[in-house]
Amino acid sequence: MNALEVRDVRVHFGGVYALKGVSLTVPSGMCVGLTGPNGSGKSTLVNAVTGVVDAEGAVSVRDRPLQLCRPGRAARLGVRRTYQTPRVHPKLTGIENVCTGHRLATGRSATAALFRRFGAGAAERVRQRDAAAALDRVGGSAAAGITGSVMTYGQRRLVELARVLVAEPRVLLLDEPSAGLNDAEVTALRSLIADLAAEGVGVLLIDHRISLLNEVCDRLVVLEEGLKLHEGEPADVWRHDRVRAAYIGELDDAGN
Ligand SMILES: Nc1ncnc2c1ncn2[C@@H]1O[C@H](COP(=O)(O)OP(=O)(O)OP(=O)(O)O)[C@@H](O)[C@H]1O
Ligand SMILES: [Mg+2]
Repeated sequence: MNALEVRDVRVHFGGVYALKGVSLTVPSGMCVGLTGPNGSGKSTLVNAVTGVVDAEGAVSVRDRPLQLCRPGRAARLGVRRTYQTPRVHPKLTGIENVCTGHRLATGRSATAALFRRFGAGAAERVRQRDAAAALDRVGGSAAAGITGSVMTYGQRRLVELARVLVAEPRVLLLDEPSAGLNDAEVTALRSLIADLAAEGVGVLLIDHRISLLNEVCDRLVVLEEGLKLHEGEPADVWRHDRVRAAYIGELDDAGN
């Protein structure tokens, strides 16, 4: 099954096209990297899928068509995203921030069943327990008891990541999750993404860190000026002349 299928998606802001007809597929259980120079349209693609910008084209999630331009529709189909600039509530603690992402009392989740049977107290305990476990999983436990306003940039990223995990996503769109993380945190992120893919989640990973893309992605899609420049296996993509030209000066990291 495809976690996400994007067909000929176009987005324009006034007369300027940020996406000029991009297609890509993220199979369930795989990680697809989306990269390309600044302004090439990567974040806009995530915004198009999540309905926060108006888009034309066709998107399906887990083989079901998704109505575009409607925020919230993708989330109902199991899509979760993180933001290029992490969004964490400044007055809530790490645990409280993560709890806001929990699938409490909705749908068929075990938490919802507990909520119905035992009331809000039991459900709250489950939320807190799951939030603590998710923070631990992403390596963000140090942020559990502090408010968003005093978290480091890296901690805000980890809290945001934990918040999407407690929603039990089937499709995960990560917008530059490694930016601002230290080496140990990037290593943990790499394992986390690999584990999520092994659990069947389809991951679209936007990142500029070539070593991370190469290590964790099954395929890479490179955008340039709103169009797909190249797509292929990580080892091959960086050999492509036009990709090298687009990335001039950045390829020493691991793309050679
Ligand atoms: N809300 C908006 N209004 C107007 N123009 C926008 C808007 N969002 C994005 N753009 C423009 O669309 C183009 C693509 O932007 P986008 O943020 O998708 O690029 P990106 O590939 O994510 O870049 P970066 O690597 O810097 O994050 C850019 O020219 C940007 O200025
Ligand atoms: Mg971006």
